[in-house]
Amino acid sequence: KKRVVVLISGSGSNMLALADACAAPDFPAEIVGVISDKKAAGGLAKASARGIATFAFERKDFSSKAEHEAAVLGALAALQPDLVCLAGYMRLLSADFIRPYDGRILNIHPSLLPLFPGLHTHQRALEAGVRIAGCTVHFVTEGMDEGPCIAQSVVPVMPGDTADTLAARVLTVEHHTYPLALRLVAEGTVRMTAQGRVERMTSIVSPDAR
Ligand code: GAR
Repeated sequence: KKRVVVLISGSGSNMLALADACAAPDFPAEIVGVISDKKAAGGLAKASARGIATFAFERKDFSSKAEHEAAVLGALAALQPDLVCLAGYMRLLSADFIRPYDGRILNIHPSLLPLFPGLHTHQRALEAGVRIAGCTVHFVTEGMDEGPCIAQSVVPVMPGDTADTLAARVLTVEHHTYPLALRLVAEGTVRMTAQGRVERMTSIVSPDAR
């Protein structure tokens, strides 16, 4: 099984979805640790309750972004992950952070990238008047929410939606899309090439998690 470390900042519902998937005996990955940049992140207790090792490094306890990243990288190195999954980790990783794990870091973003990268994605989708929304799991590269796509799922935008109701609908599909994407990468069906493109070993063009 591939060793996976999950990085979180918040409630950790995607981390739990990954942990649930990893609990299946035939799933090709296992979670060996959860690292948060917030000591108060709700996901930390949820991970501990499942017997997963947890670590927290508050940005304010370090004098620079580089020192904070060095602490996270140190914890990561000790866990020897094959893959790193960002799951609501609300920090942009530097090139130095990404380099040792290039092509092995996944992120989930709650929009149909390349639409609406960055913050306030649901509000911007509503303002743009799009009729479908969704989520994207992609390989992490230096740009914010920019790396090549592994898997996406769509949901409708409903009349009367607010950013919160749309976020909740998108989150429900995140919870099956992220485990699907992790499986594809862990089993070697999808990988990132040295040119930063995605290579798919099957004829699946746009896998849907359902
Ligand atoms: C999820 O909706 C995730 O897609 C989003 O934060 C939420 C975390 O929820 N991530 C981003 O916006 C990253 N740019 P969770 O902690 O319950 O998984």
